[in-house]
Formats: sequence, structure tokens, C-alpha cells
Amino acid sequence: MKTLFLSLIAVFFLFSVEEVFSQDKKEFSYIGVDACAPCHKTEKQGKQLEIWKNSKHANAYNTLLTPEADKIAKDLGYTTPAAKTENCLRCHTSGYNVEPAKLGKKFKIEDGVQCETCHGPGSAYKDMKIMKSRELSIENGLIMYEDLEKYCVTCHNSESPTFVERDMKEAWELIKHPVPQQK
Ligand code: HEC
Ligand code: HEC
Ligand code: HEC
Ligand code: HEC
Repeated sequence: MKTLFLSLIAVFFLFSVEEVFSQDKKEFSYIGVDACAPCHKTEKQGKQLEIWKNSKHANAYNTLLTPEADKIAKDLGYTTPAAKTENCLRCHTSGYNVEPAKLGKKFKIEDGVQCETCHGPGSAYKDMKIMKSRELSIENGLIMYEDLEKYCVTCHNSESPTFVERDMKEAWELIKHPVPQQK
């Protein structure tokens, strides 16, 4: 009797947790690089847009459209082309597993590893008033990283079929995009 009671409580608790998480998902949706661009392309802001566009991340989805990628997928036993294979998409883009109706009009899967892949879906933090405060931005879904190497290796690891071990601190030097210090 006691165990039944405890399991009922556990089930009830699980459902409430589920609910909180699904609410979060509803709140935050991907809006696309073009929606971040107007505020993150000037010299004063640090030209994040241009730095990202010149990085391989911006091309990560297009890479999956190449014959080389399809061959890798086929050799691994997948029957779908690389750009339709979930286990390729998961490291090469965002939003592939989201209902299209829930994606912002400017969102493009072709943008590959994009701002929101790393910083979290931006529908709720994108407004100037919120963006100006790191605390408010984080409350509204912005993700920042204390330990960025630990984050990079969530994709840069041996589960990548073409993995080459590299120093992620050096790799960061190639893609870092700081806001210039203001005087
Ligand atoms: C309306 C303008 C605007 C839009 C749109 C916008 N941002 Fe921002 N963002 C800002 C401003 C202003 C700051 C504060 C910069 C500073 O530190 O001076 C900022 C800061 C940030 C920071 C750094 C936060 C911190 O505390 O260091 C990140 C990361 C960021 N934005 C990502 C994004 C992403 C991703 C998008 C698109 C989903 C986006 N922003 C859209 C204006 C904007
Ligand atoms: C969501 C997965 C993902 C995350 C997270 C990620 N990357 Fe990448 N990265 C990729 C993919 C995929 C490529 C290959 C893109 C291509 O060539 O089409 C890549 C390529 C790169 C390249 C170019 C590699 C080369 O050989 O020239 C650099 C540099 C890089 N990433 C740095 C980083 C750093 C630094 C971090 C952490 C701040 C990071 N990446 C986080 C997926 C990711
Ligand atoms: C765990 C994350 C991850 C998965 C899963 C993944 N990739 Fe990648 N992919 C990367 C990263 C990171 C790079 C950058 C080079 C590296 O370190 O592997 C990359 C690079 C590539 C490249 C460019 C290689 C080059 O010449 O630089 C191709 C092609 C590629 N991936 C195809 C695929 C295909 C096809 C799949 C699915 C079968 C796949 N990837 C699954 C993370 C991943
Ligand atoms: C591969 C992952 C990745 C991508 C893609 C990416 N960022 Fe970042 N971004 C980071 C990391 C990691 C940091 C450093 C976080 C920290 O220092 O706390 C950062 C820092 C920032 C900062 C704060 C810089 C500062 O000086 O405080 C801004 C603003 C920013 N990113 C905006 C963007 C925008 C806009 C895009 C798209 C055009 C983008 N990022 C794409 C990973 C990424």
C-alpha cells in the first residue's frame, strides 16, 4: 500500500516536471540568424554576423548536401541521404526536429551551426530591453558558457565520422566574436 502511494506521488511529480519542460519549449523558438543580424553586425557590436558567416559553421548544413557526405552516410549503413539523416543533422544544424510552424519566418536550416545552435532559441531574449541585461537574457533562454571547451566537444568528438582531434582553445581563436570593450 505504501509503495503504491509512493509510486503515485512519483508519477504525479514526473508529470509536473514534464509540463514545466514542455512549457519552456513552447516559449522559446528559433528565429534565425537574419533576426539576430541587425544588432550583431556593426563594428561597435563586434561584427558577430560576419565572423560567423566566414566560419565553417555557417556552411555545416551545406556540407551534408555534398556527394562526399552522402558517401559517408551510406558507408555507415544509413539508407537516407546525409541531409535527411538525423544522426548527421544533429551536429550540422538546428531546428530539423521542430515543427515548421514553430520556427520563425527568418529561420533557415541551411544556416547550419548558427547563433541559436549555441546560444539557444531566441524568440524571447531578442528584444533590446532584454538583450541589454545578461541576467534577463538568460532568464529568457540565452545560453552562455563558462567552460566553452566542454561545450565545443559536445559536437567535436569521435562520434563525428570525420573527427580530427584538435585543441579547442586554438579552434576558439578562429571563431571568437567578442563585443569590443567600451570606454
Ligand atoms: C534588438 C537588437 C538585438 C537583437 C535582435 C539581438 N541582440 Fe543580442 N545583444 C544585443 C545587445 C545590445 C547586447 C549587449 C551587448 C553588450 O554587451 O554591450 C546583446 C548581447 C548578446 C549576447 C552576449 C550576452 C552577454 O551577456 O554577454 C549574445 C550571446 C547575443 N546577444 C546573442 C544574440 C542572438 C543569438 C540573437 C538572435 C537570436 C540576438 N542576440 C539578437 C542586441 C540584440
Ligand atoms: C552543434 C555542433 C557544434 C558545436 C557545439 C561546435 N561545433 Fe565547431 N563545427 C561543427 C561542424 C559540423 C563543423 C564542420 C562544418 C563543415 O565543415 O561543414 C565545425 C567546424 C568547426 C571549425 C572549423 C574546423 C576546421 O577544421 O577548419 C572550427 C574552428 C570550430 N568548429 C570551432 C568550434 C568551437 C571553438 C566550438 C565551441 C565554442 C564549436 N566549434 C562548437 C559543429 C559544432
Ligand atoms: C557528433 C557530431 C557530429 C555528427 C553526429 C556528424 N558530424 Fe559531420 N562534422 C562534425 C564536426 C565537428 C566536423 C568538423 C571536422 C571534425 O572534427 O570532424 C564535421 C565535418 C564533417 C564533414 C567535412 C569533413 C571535412 O572534409 O572537413 C563532412 C563531409 C561531414 N561532417 C559529414 C557528416 C555526415 C555524413 C554525418 C552523418 C553520417 C555526420 N557528419 C555526423 C560533427 C558531426
Ligand atoms: C559554435 C557556437 C557559437 C556560434 C555559432 C555563435 N556563438 Fe556567440 N558565443 C559562443 C561562445 C562559446 C561565446 C563565449 C561565451 C562566454 O564567454 O561566456 C560566445 C559569445 C558571444 C557574444 C558575447 C561576446 C562578449 O564579448 O561577451 C555575443 C554577442 C555572441 N556570442 C553573439 C553571437 C551571434 C550574434 C552569433 C551568430 C551570428 C553567434 N554568437 C554564434 C558560441 C557561439
